[in-house]
Amino acid sequence: MAKKIFSLIVFGLMLIVGPETIFAQKSADAAIEKKIDRLLGKMTLKEKIGQMYQVSGPTRDAAAMQLIREGRVGSVLNVNNREDINRLQRLAVTETRLGIPLIVGRDVIHGYHTIFPIPLGQAATFDPELVKEGARVAAQEASSDGINWTFAPMLDIARDARWGRIAESFGEDPFLASVMGAAMVKGFQTERLSDKGTLAACAKHFIGYGAAEGGRDYNSTNIPERLMRNVYFPSFQAAVQAGAATVMTSFNDNDGVPSTANPFILKKVLRDEWHFDGFVVSDWTSPEEMINHGFAADRKEAALRSVNAGLDMEMVSKCYLNNLEELVKEGKVSISTIDNAVRNILRVKFRLGLFDHPYTDTPSTNPFYTDDNLAKAKKAAVESVVLLKNTNHLLPLTSAVKTVAVIGPLADAQHDQMGTWVFDGENGHTQTPLMAIRKMYGDRVNVLYEQGLAFCRDTNKSRFPQALEAAQKADVVFLFVGEESIMSGEAHSFSNLGFKGAQSELLQELKKSGKPIVMVVMAGRPMTIMKEVAAADATLYVWHPGTMGGPAIADLLFGKEVPSGKLPATFPKESGQIPFFYNHNNTGRPAPENVMTLDRIPLNAGQTSLGNTSYYLDSGNRPWLPFGFGLSYTDFAYGNLQLSSGSMKKTGYVTVSCDLTNNGTLDATEVVQLYVRDIAGSITRPVKELKGFQRIALRSGETKKISFELKAEDLAFYGIDNVKKVEPGDFLIFIGGDSDTKLCQKLIVTE
Ligand code: BGC
Repeated sequence: MAKKIFSLIVFGLMLIVGPETIFAQKSADAAIEKKIDRLLGKMTLKEKIGQMYQVSGPTRDAAAMQLIREGRVGSVLNVNNREDINRLQRLAVTETRLGIPLIVGRDVIHGYHTIFPIPLGQAATFDPELVKEGARVAAQEASSDGINWTFAPMLDIARDARWGRIAESFGEDPFLASVMGAAMVKGFQTERLSDKGTLAACAKHFIGYGAAEGGRDYNSTNIPERLMRNVYFPSFQAAVQAGAATVMTSFNDNDGVPSTANPFILKKVLRDEWHFDGFVVSDWTSPEEMINHGFAADRKEAALRSVNAGLDMEMVSKCYLNNLEELVKEGKVSISTIDNAVRNILRVKFRLGLFDHPYTDTPSTNPFYTDDNLAKAKKAAVESVVLLKNTNHLLPLTSAVKTVAVIGPLADAQHDQMGTWVFDGENGHTQTPLMAIRKMYGDRVNVLYEQGLAFCRDTNKSRFPQALEAAQKADVVFLFVGEESIMSGEAHSFSNLGFKGAQSELLQELKKSGKPIVMVVMAGRPMTIMKEVAAADATLYVWHPGTMGGPAIADLLFGKEVPSGKLPATFPKESGQIPFFYNHNNTGRPAPENVMTLDRIPLNAGQTSLGNTSYYLDSGNRPWLPFGFGLSYTDFAYGNLQLSSGSMKKTGYVTVSCDLTNNGTLDATEVVQLYVRDIAGSITRPVKELKGFQRIALRSGETKKISFELKAEDLAFYGIDNVKKVEPGDFLIFIGGDSDTKLCQKLIVTE
């Protein structure tokens, strides 16, 4: 039976990519396996264990270099220059007994030198092609320096904006994260990893890391298997299907088991169910950290539990290096376990072509910040921007505006606009909004500049008078506020998501001018700034937009571009509402539209549960802004939602269509979103789930018919028996411009 299924899969694949490709791939794979066999046959136990060790930045560390010479290092990270990398590679290739090259890793997360918007910003584009392009640019730049492995994409589902690493994620939705993650993998790796200009991708952090208790980084998670399968696994599975060469385990323990030593996720799911054949690396010292977790008494036990669970390579700590030999001799770890791990690592090295081309040549032209790379980074920044508010069509600026006041700590902050996880982007190459407005629109408007505050956390208001004076002299104020880059990312969690320092006061001060205020928010997460947005006349949420953030924002302000980004995460009113995500299950007592508020509760009210529903007495039943939300300078209207049939078989499909009209005066792009709701299942079902999206460009006045093909299998989920399948029954199919859409039709799925 298994053989038959395999043949069917091969046949199916042949239909998609053609028989030549499949057979070429299969024989390449077979040749690699033979080479691995030969190599493994020659390796000593010490050399095998060496492949399983990754050392950080060993360029000046004599002991680490000696280990490389002895063939006891498989990988290095945190070396980023060609000369150093080639030098280390030479030690591995020419001075070790077997000449096995190193795999060189680095965190190339949203660009190498040319920095793209943070991944959360990239998610807001709802444009997987752009995400792929961004990863191509990053791979071309980084590989020219000798790097061949990046620790990206980060695929953690992030439902909690207190968690600083939400910045590195594609947000809260499993479908969006799956599409974007797969696109990023393809961009880094292309179709053939051995091609020039590629990086091996790493799907991280497996698993559940974004669900850290209270949003406090590294904390425990408690995700039951079914939720894991329905919400946290899909983005990783999509990355594995897209060919991700490696996977990184997460720091957290889930239900008491640290991911680094969890055989359920590393063996059963990753290998047996998803057939992953690359290698698994730990996160930074995470095997050793299992001692702090209280999961291993010492480094030796940490090595034992990790290796037997299926962790192939250890990042930085030396639990494997110093203990595996003894554990094998004691019979606690089998040699086949070691061989398997080494086989996985060597397979990726062969696929990367490292044995044939271990060294990196000096490129004939400078690969960094090319015009093409900068243009792509700018496009990504443009598409990532979400318009939250635009009273009286303040934006784009009209020609009546003669003087603009550019104010705020982030108007000219080259470092901060690049965002978190940037090691190689350079301030000097970063184009800020102030620079861009002056350069690109300086002949159209007079530009006044006052910082107001030196940085986001600044509480010194001594420069407020100058800022107010600039505002008074201007026709419009551009206020650049938000978070410094270091305020999101790893270990940068907050319990309060409001503006820091005196930024809100700066806004209030500028209000005294009576001039219209456009607030531009740069941030690594959803911020709870409802009051500030209410006070401003218009707001652009631009995340940390990267190297080309300035020109992108300038073009949006002046109307050369029209915003099209949509929120990849729910924006709560206040952090006490967290976790708040659109695809939640319903309660037995869902809140009505209008809920009771604290001020309406009579004094001395008696205890009752009659009529009670699920909401907060102070912040209500709704977040501030829903997932998928984003305005445009134009107005889009949705209508005429139709299904090609009111019912489908559980193996069938329907076409869902609607008319989209651009009712405004500008040409613009809208992200059309398709959601479903399963009315009743074998387990409780989310109130809505994203199943498709399309970016649609429409000229002013134009109407287009938009169609989605919805397959029954898109409705499948892990139900009461933990098996993925389609459950017949009634569904609602929604289309709209955000997850709050009410436009829907009923669909019946039959046996
Ligand atoms: C992070 C990983 C990163 C690794 C290497 C860790 O602290 O959690 O995401 O890839 O460091 O820099």
